[in-house]
Amino acid sequence: MDELLNIVTVGHVDHGKSTVIGRLLADAGALPEGKLESIRENCRRNSKPFEYAFLLDALKNEQAQGITIDTARCFFKTDKRSYILIDAPGHIEFLKNMVTGASRAEAALLVIDASHGVEENTRRHGYFLSVLGIRQVAVLVNKMDLVDYREKVYRDICADCRAFLEKIGIVPASFIPVSGMEGDNIALRSDRMPWYRGDTVLEQIDRFQSVAEPEQLPLRLPVQGVYKFTGSGDSRRIIAGTLDSGILRAGDRIVFWPSGKKTSVKSLEVFNAPEPADFRAGQAAGFTMTEQIFVRRGEIACLESEPAPHVGVRVRANIFWLGRSAFRADRRYHFKCGTAKVEMTLEHIERIVNASNLSCQSRQYAEKNEAAECILRLDRPVAFDLAGDNDATSRFVIVDDYEIAGGGIITEALNEYDYDTRNIRWSGAGLSADERLRITGKRGLVVWMTGLSGSGKTTIAEEAELRLLSEGIPAFVLDGDKLRRGLCSDLGFSDADRAENIRRAAETAKLFRDAGAVCLVTLISPFRAARESARRIIGDEFLETYVKASLDACIARDPKKLYKKALAGEIRSFTGLDSPYEAPESPDLLLDTERWSEEECVEALVGAVRSRLGKDGKEVRG
Ligand code: ADX
Repeated sequence: MDELLNIVTVGHVDHGKSTVIGRLLADAGALPEGKLESIRENCRRNSKPFEYAFLLDALKNEQAQGITIDTARCFFKTDKRSYILIDAPGHIEFLKNMVTGASRAEAALLVIDASHGVEENTRRHGYFLSVLGIRQVAVLVNKMDLVDYREKVYRDICADCRAFLEKIGIVPASFIPVSGMEGDNIALRSDRMPWYRGDTVLEQIDRFQSVAEPEQLPLRLPVQGVYKFTGSGDSRRIIAGTLDSGILRAGDRIVFWPSGKKTSVKSLEVFNAPEPADFRAGQAAGFTMTEQIFVRRGEIACLESEPAPHVGVRVRANIFWLGRSAFRADRRYHFKCGTAKVEMTLEHIERIVNASNLSCQSRQYAEKNEAAECILRLDRPVAFDLAGDNDATSRFVIVDDYEIAGGGIITEALNEYDYDTRNIRWSGAGLSADERLRITGKRGLVVWMTGLSGSGKTTIAEEAELRLLSEGIPAFVLDGDKLRRGLCSDLGFSDADRAENIRRAAETAKLFRDAGAVCLVTLISPFRAARESARRIIGDEFLETYVKASLDACIARDPKKLYKKALAGEIRSFTGLDSPYEAPESPDLLLDTERWSEEECVEALVGAVRSRLGKDGKEVRG
């Protein structure tokens, strides 16, 4: 297939963009036979001076061999390949299309007027190239004829321009001194600037790298839908979607992201047609699997043998905001990338760029028609690629109230939590709980479970521990019996020893809490005063939980046969019998084990923990 490269041309209108393009077409021999002459003739008849800038207008809607021009695009061929020159008028519609992926360009020509130098508009266009993720840029220093082809003017502009482009992450491929009007260094080398030895514009565009064809990139097939065969007794599912990139064949080992589920492609399916040999980028595909695994819309099917996409809930992105109401952190939006759609919030705006003067602001909202570099947080993991690696799967749109309010490209996959530890100055006192929280994102909590022996503390705590762990919440049971075998093995059951037992447990639980864990302490802790002192030691993030069961119920349960022994007089000072139990008057949480099932108690406890930590234990960044 003939290679095609999309090049966007940007620059202030008065800086001679159309003249440069007209000249390029003419001098590269891309114009139809006689066209140039007929336009010149036309100008003569109307007593208008001929200008190359007219060429584009004159050719509009014309389709001749090798050249097609419509309102914003010009298609032409050189010996090497075909090109589409996209004129970026700098208006919002274009930017919207580019940022949202409706159109794309792989390289750019930035035209600057040598007699004016870098102006506001140049900066603005430069910035947008960067927001669009276009990394190949050639800067054409135009109208060299107006500055007598002086090398110094060219060099000064190069220095100015390079400094500004580098600030926004663009390293220009070349700076070419040209005159569109006179034809210098456009397609033909100029002898008026012997000091310049670089490429002409035509040579430069032939040198631009074309981004790999989507077909050559790893397979990315966003799942659009999963359909079941309608035949009775047929349990097969068809996965349907359009390939963003790559090639899919029967027999391929595939992985769905973000779920990570694997299977093999059993057959390729096309409605009412024989099975094709493969599906390629751009094609709508359907396939069946060897295992009937459950996958859903929004996942991306990839080949196991190829690089996997990123999966994450936090990304750095360049966005362009189009919404009527500002983009802000206190609102919820939908994030759509491929077929995935998840709720999201704006976490942080790193910089807002005023499109006209490139001034950076640090405010935390973006208004209509502003570009911003920001960090987005998604509610659920999404699979994606980075801009530059795979166009289609790195682009997304932001939906606000059913309307597309912004679009952008993902430039970096971020850790779910990351906090720049360099910002923490070593105070000699170690990290504060708050600093630790900002790094790990895990807020600790002490669940202090009090109740008679046999009331069910340990049983409930251990089940809750498992439940929390499976939700990604670090949980740990600090069990009374275990403590008494180790840390507290020197203690008995006198009032004083019980108080010391509780003090040690509270100090230990506090450390777990500070480390970011949910520490479930299961101690009879019969004395109100001792529990209050535990609360004082631990401070905030203390959840007093009363695991309630009557003495009779505990005696009836007697899992360790201790009541039996105590009642027989073999154990002294046994809580509930010859040692008192002071039930909490207003616990933070009450679990009545006589009225509720074990399952209900665990559910209530886990629910209380979740709500103390924020909805899911994660949304707690400082
Ligand atoms: S606390 O009173 O100091 O909080 P803790 O919870 O650590 O008590 O220990 C209670 C456990 O120790 C009981 O579950 C039981 O297995 C065991 N135990 C042994 N002797 C006694 C006793 N006299 N009173 C209560 N529990 C006892």
